[in-house]
Parts: sequence; structure tokens; C-alpha cells
Amino acid sequence: MVDTIKITLEGVTESRLPQTDFNNLPFGKVYTDHMFMADYRDGQWKNFRIVPYGHMLVSPATPAIHYGQSIFEGMKAYLGTNGEVLIFRPHDNLQRLNLSADRMCMPPVPEEIFMEGLRELLHVDKAWIPSAPGSSLYIRPFVFSADEYIGIRPSQDFTFMIIMSPVGAYYSNPVKVKIETHYTRAVAGGTGYAKAGGNYGGAIYPTKLAAQEGFHQLIWTDGVKHEYIEESGTMNVMFVFNDTLVTPALSDSILAGITRDSIVKLAQSWGMKVEERKVSVKEIVAHLTQGTLQEAFGVGTAATIANIEAIGYEGNLYTLPPVEQRVIAHKIYQELDAIKRGTQPDRFGWIMKL
Ligand code: COI
Repeated sequence: MVDTIKITLEGVTESRLPQTDFNNLPFGKVYTDHMFMADYRDGQWKNFRIVPYGHMLVSPATPAIHYGQSIFEGMKAYLGTNGEVLIFRPHDNLQRLNLSADRMCMPPVPEEIFMEGLRELLHVDKAWIPSAPGSSLYIRPFVFSADEYIGIRPSQDFTFMIIMSPVGAYYSNPVKVKIETHYTRAVAGGTGYAKAGGNYGGAIYPTKLAAQEGFHQLIWTDGVKHEYIEESGTMNVMFVFNDTLVTPALSDSILAGITRDSIVKLAQSWGMKVEERKVSVKEIVAHLTQGTLQEAFGVGTAATIANIEAIGYEGNLYTLPPVEQRVIAHKIYQELDAIKRGTQPDRFGWIMKL
């Protein structure tokens, strides 16, 4: 354990801020001036530093490259109305990072290192937090094996880093998704519940095939019989029918989304009926064919609330009610966004203020 950490700062000689077009922020292409780094060596986290964002040296033999021993998180910071920095549920991200670390045989990142690194980095790069509606500062903490060893074994050396990116919407329009019934994202006993790099890498090919058919994303189903809905790529998925918010119950093949959890709590606080349970493909297709599926949307840190306009299943395309008529997704987006930006009281204790 570490009691206090000392972070060194090597600042940039010239900020890239003046060349950054804040009116045109694609997701994940622009990075702030600095990044936070820490090394795990000889069984201890050490060498805490903030350095200019940029390429870095890693061994070509690192297991992170060869075997995908890497995990990550996604979180967001906002600028409050009085110029204060508001971070949404960072302790939950830390908890999930360490759950992923455990599954991937990595050391946990102590709270002090995570929070102090985050605070200091945000302090140094505060001017990069966008304030326009719909934009935010996306924060990407990650850990990877830094061993120089090509054999397979639990690694000994690791690197923990935080990089940050001012972003606009991940999906700028409602999405068309395909229920995937051949490829599999995760199975029971696998790494689906962890935010492990390989879960995402393995999804790229099936998602590319779906994109060739005109879909923006997949809805993954269980890896055994493809009978139950699990999650969508980059986000959890939620449905509204019979005026009830329905989402697949968490399992070891579904990522425990922090946005998902926030929405469940928010909807319950309104007195809305919420069901977290197994959701069969059959049930969703029945609602689609009967026209009783009121809403469907993906939820995630990057995606926020991504309305689903159409769902493809076994060669059929089912169109949902027009997005402009969606009441629940709209209400969720508005209230969650207001809490994150500090324009509504933080009644759940989700905001960490800097
Ligand atoms: C996030 O929402 O933060 C994610 O990690 C999704 C991502 C793969 C873009």
C-alpha cells in the first residue's frame, strides 16, 4: 500500500490547445497535452509522473502486445457552471478496473494512485474540458503488462496510465443494430465482465461484417445458443415495453456498465418499473413484430444514450417508433446529463468535485 504519492510533472513546452477545434470534436482523436504514468516494479507501484502526451517506449516482447494482457476504463469529466471540474463516479471505475485486473492477473491500482493521478492530470489539463452541450472530457485509465518476456506466465511488471480526450458524441445519430447469432463476444467463465482489451479486439471483425450490411453495431447474444440478449458493442442495452425498462441481468459475460447502473437507479427513483433479467431474443423479436417495443437504446460512458432506430435479426429489419417520440430515453439523457454537469442536485452522490 502507498500512503502518499509524489507525482513529478514534466510540462509541455507548447500547448496544442490553440490548434484544437472545439467546435468539431470527433470521438477519441484529440488528446490533451499530458498523460499520467506509473510503473509496477518489484511488487510495488512507483515512479508517478505526468509527462507530455506522446508515443512511448515499450518492449517488443511485452505480453500486452502478444497476449492482450491489458485492461482499461472509460469515464468522463465536465465543467460545472462555476468552472469546477466534475467527475462522474470515478470510484466505480476504479472498482471495476481492479475487478478486471484480478481477472487478468494484474496488481490492483490503489485508490490513492488512481485518484491522485486523475486529480493532478485534470488540474494540469483543465483547460481541455469542453463546455459545449453534448461534449465532455473522456478519460481513459488503463493498465498493461510491461514484462520483457515472451513466455506465458503471470507478468511481473506493469504500467498504469491515464490519457484524456475532449470529445463530442460517440454516435452522432440513432443507430441501427444487428442481433448477432453466429459470432460470440463472451461466454460464461470467460473475460466478458472485465474491461479487457481482447474483448473489444475480438468484436471488430463481426462488427465490420455487420457494418457491410449497413449496421452501426451488434447486439451480442449468449455464446451457447444465441437465445438471450447480452449487450451491444461499446454499450449495454435497454428496452422499454409495457412501460417497463428492461435490461439483461448482469452475468460474467456482460460488462457491468456504470451508465447502466446509473440509469437503473434513476428510473427506479422515478417509480418506473425496472426489470434486470434474462431477455430472450424471441421476446424482443415478438415485441418488434407486434409493434409493442416502445424504445430501445444503448447506454455507456462513451455512447451516453444511443437511441436504436432499427434492429436487424436473421435477414429482417425491424424499425422502431420514431426517435422524436421517445419519452424514456430522452428523460434519462436529460436528467443524467444535468447531474453530470452539476445543473441538477447530485442526489445519488455520484459526482466527485475537484
Ligand atoms: C466507454 O464507453 O467508455 C467504452 O469503453 C466504450 C469504448 C470501447 C469506446
